[in-house]
Amino acid sequence: MELYEAIFHRRSVRKYSESSLSEEKLSEIREFLTDRPRLYPNVSSDVTLAENGEELQRNISGIISDYGKVRSPHYLIVSSEEEEGHLADIGYSLEYVVLQLTSMGIGTCWLGKGFKDEELENLVNLPEAQESRALIAFGPPGPGQELARIEEPHRKSLKHFLLDKREGQLDEKERKLIDGLRRAPSAINGQPWRISIEQEIVHMFIELRSRITRTLIGNMMTMNKIDGGIGLSHLEITGRNLWDDISIQSDSEVNMDGLQYIGSLNI
Ligand SMILES: Cc1cc2nc3c(=O)[nH]c(=O)nc-3n(C[C@H](O)[C@H](O)[C@H](O)COP(=O)(O)O)c2cc1C
Repeated sequence: MELYEAIFHRRSVRKYSESSLSEEKLSEIREFLTDRPRLYPNVSSDVTLAENGEELQRNISGIISDYGKVRSPHYLIVSSEEEEGHLADIGYSLEYVVLQLTSMGIGTCWLGKGFKDEELENLVNLPEAQESRALIAFGPPGPGQELARIEEPHRKSLKHFLLDKREGQLDEKERKLIDGLRRAPSAINGQPWRISIEQEIVHMFIELRSRITRTLIGNMMTMNKIDGGIGLSHLEITGRNLWDDISIQSDSEVNMDGLQYIGSLNI
């Protein structure tokens, strides 16, 4: 299955089969972890594959239960150094991995961080300056949880994502582009992405929540920036399916009040 098609099959899987993935599948996954695309390749960031999910759950016991009781045979532990763009890089890079896993029929669920790094001490050797930022649960979906194509996703309508166009002004390709974007996963399904469509470039931003919301929902800013990177990977994969020669960049000089710029798609 192509990555673009995987966008339509991915959803958060929270119930997994008792069985683990084969050693062969796990080494295939290790390979594409090494080759995963990066948005900020110079940022120091790593992904550790925790083969034994139960062991990880034991180490951070009580905490996984706060994540809607997700228990999976394997996890990815994603860590980075706090540098410009590191969270968007994580979202962008790891969503490629998530879609790759989806295309193999493997279930995934992004999990925000709610544990302390000391709890991971026996499981992962984080480089000195790095901290873990998120987990991705993965494994064979449980009975009845297989990944089927989703026709109508549980998402806001297309117009919600538009900054400077009305829905009626979109052509067919632009509609498809926004549909590919909105199907991306985001923390608490917040869908913080907003886009501005110009002649040959689409800029993507995330909506910054009010200070009150940010304080109430502790690490929501962190999660939103990861969401931003995730959205950019969906824009790129969808854009590649619609136009011949696309590229992304994260260094356009564009500012919008109340929004944070994440990146652009050149079409
Ligand atoms: C950065 C991030 C953090 C998330 N954290 C959690 C979490 O802690 N627990 C959970 O059950 N789901 C978590 N999710 C999954 C979202 O709730 C889910 O993506 C969203 O509700 C949309 O549903 P879908 O993934 O099935 O399309 C997270 C997603 C993202 C992108």
